[in-house]
Amino acid sequence: MKKVYIETLGCQMNKSDSERILGMLSHFGYEETTEPKEADFLIINTCSIRQLSADKAYSCVGVWGKWKKERNENLKIGFCGCVAQQDKEKLQKRFPYIDLVFGPSNLYMLPELVKRIEAGEKVCAVSERPFEADESQFEIKRAKSLNAWIPIMEGCDNFCTYCIVPFTRGRERSREPEKIILEAKKALENGFKEITLLGQNVDSYGKGLGEEVTLANLLRELNKIGGKFRIRFVTSYPTDISDDLIKAVGECEKVCEYFHIPMQSGSTTLLKDMNRRYTREEYGKIVGKIRKAFENVTITSDFIAGFPGETEEQFNETLSAIDEFELDYSNTAAYSPREKTKAARWVDKFIDEETKMNRLAVLNEKNREACLKSNQKFVGKTLEILVESFEERGGKTILAGRARNNKIAHFEGSKDLIGEFVNVKITKASTWHIAGELV
Ligand code: SAH
Ligand code: SF4
Ligand code: F3S
Repeated sequence: MKKVYIETLGCQMNKSDSERILGMLSHFGYEETTEPKEADFLIINTCSIRQLSADKAYSCVGVWGKWKKERNENLKIGFCGCVAQQDKEKLQKRFPYIDLVFGPSNLYMLPELVKRIEAGEKVCAVSERPFEADESQFEIKRAKSLNAWIPIMEGCDNFCTYCIVPFTRGRERSREPEKIILEAKKALENGFKEITLLGQNVDSYGKGLGEEVTLANLLRELNKIGGKFRIRFVTSYPTDISDDLIKAVGECEKVCEYFHIPMQSGSTTLLKDMNRRYTREEYGKIVGKIRKAFENVTITSDFIAGFPGETEEQFNETLSAIDEFELDYSNTAAYSPREKTKAARWVDKFIDEETKMNRLAVLNEKNREACLKSNQKFVGKTLEILVESFEERGGKTILAGRARNNKIAHFEGSKDLIGEFVNVKITKASTWHIAGELV
């Protein structure tokens, strides 16, 4: 068996793609290794959301190129994901030791592409058109965990002015419900306890597949599968959360009360510049509806600090939004201009690096505060936890797992409980997790 190592950067969609890549390669005599120095084939699955993530990919592949030159000239190097989709042929000009460049749309061609590089060819397969054939006849090699990622839609038609995703992942397209249900059943048969449905805008699932095909109905179908397991979905676009979706989450006991709904900014003016299709008030209304519908729900978000033209006042509106909407946790980032996007052209409105970094620090502090406050809400409550891992600490076994609302809980218990659902009474809240006792 030859050995393949894959480094995965970016979002869950990339993680899921990497599992598919490993699955395909296992049919061609490649076994996964977690040690890059042992590998015959090194692949980096890249993310282009910010310059920082792209730079990480370039520096990693630089190191691998050196290995190839100094140690093993037969080493094969592959470069895929969102930076590959963006840079295409430019990559092999800049890094001539890369054997294979392939875009997210070309995943299903991998078996053929690998044959070609094994024969000594340099290959760049990045197609412009969004792919149709997302189904491969090969197994998926899922990471060892309790959660199975299942992509249900890919791509994005929203074109927020800062975002590269519509350029790297193409137009929105949804998978047939039958295929998703089949994949979920298989994962559950293999012992997975959680299914997470993935999509850049998961709540607009079903476009082009007929009126009945919606995320709400898909949840209802998946909920009918027998056995004890959980269902999650990410990421939601605020105004695509329909009343029927909220209703379905309520009806389906397997679907968790957890919503990730990026807001991006608390300022309606800036949201407009970002080409987000909602105001601060509309975002608040959706969040309010969800909070009213579910008792222990958590709502998390993403925010960008220092978007072009952001005033101090507008930035403060972001801080106050976190308070007002009681957001339980937020991913934060400093604005990074991306080639091809609209906002990248507004150079005269760019915020200087220092101000941007200061705002990011303030935003992170606010998030820390909000997260602690959110965790404190659960002290005294009993939550159902899926036990995921353990750690030995001071002679005790401390288990870690997640509640339905995605909160991470620590508590003492036997490691035999890994993979089980247990009830934990929450007694303590820290910034990033809650702690309690088994009931
Ligand atoms: N589809 C999701 C977001 C996917 S991208 C949505 O619509 O909300 C993940 C996150 O990266 C975004 O929510 C945004 O906060 C951040 N992001 C995207 N482009 C960025 C950029 N150019 N600079 C900084 N952060 C960015
Ligand atoms: Fe990017 Fe906006 Fe699409 Fe989200 S909705 S992936 S932020 S363009
Ligand atoms: Fe990054 Fe592509 Fe995901 S840009 S965030 S890996 S869709």
